[in-house]
Amino acid sequence: MLTPLSRLLDSALDRSVVLGYTSIGSGVRRRLPHWPDDPAPGSMEGRRVVVTGATSGIGEAMARSFLDLGATVHLLGRNPDKVADYARQLRTEVPNADVVEEVCDIADLDAVRAWCADLSDRVPAIHGLVHNAGVMPPERTE
Ligand SMILES: NC(=O)c1ccc[n+]([C@@H]2O[C@H](COP(=O)([O-])OP(=O)(O)OC[C@H]3O[C@@H](n4cnc5c(N)ncnc54)[C@H](OP(=O)(O)O)[C@@H]3O)[C@@H](O)[C@H]2O)c1
Repeated sequence: MLTPLSRLLDSALDRSVVLGYTSIGSGVRRRLPHWPDDPAPGSMEGRRVVVTGATSGIGEAMARSFLDLGATVHLLGRNPDKVADYARQLRTEVPNADVVEEVCDIADLDAVRAWCADLSDRVPAIHGLVHNAGVMPPERTE
């Protein structure tokens, strides 16, 4: 539980955007009382997580974090070369990395259905899905 003062500081960081969403925000929050510690290394051993949009940005970082915690990570991207390149990099950088390469264009719902059916045949269960793939275009279009 955050104390009222910590909650106020947390909210102020968020509202300022720049302070909350840069390394300043994580640095300050780390020092707040009752802010939870990072999970222990190995705490996700035996867990299987799918990360969509894992070839860039936030997805790339999350995939790496789950691997560092010992999870099996399914890297999903739409570009097979990018998926293969990042999987190779992770296998080189993270000891015993258990990485599964997945290719699917999530904008194609038939492809999503086919990929889900295929995944269900290949694995007994997934414990986490980070559905992060997406874009933020400057203008809304339909
Ligand atoms: N960064 C921010 O400040 C921010 C803020 C709010 C929300 N978000 C959201 O958070 C998510 C990640 O953001 P980011 O900054 O890390 O973006 P990013 O660096 O552009 O990464 C997006 C990832 O999604 C993949 N992707 C895009 N369309 C796809 C599709 N149709 N099928 C499969 N994969 C697809 C991209 O693959 P390719 O490399 O092949 O393009 C890439 O790996 C996005 O959904 C974004 O809208 C981000």
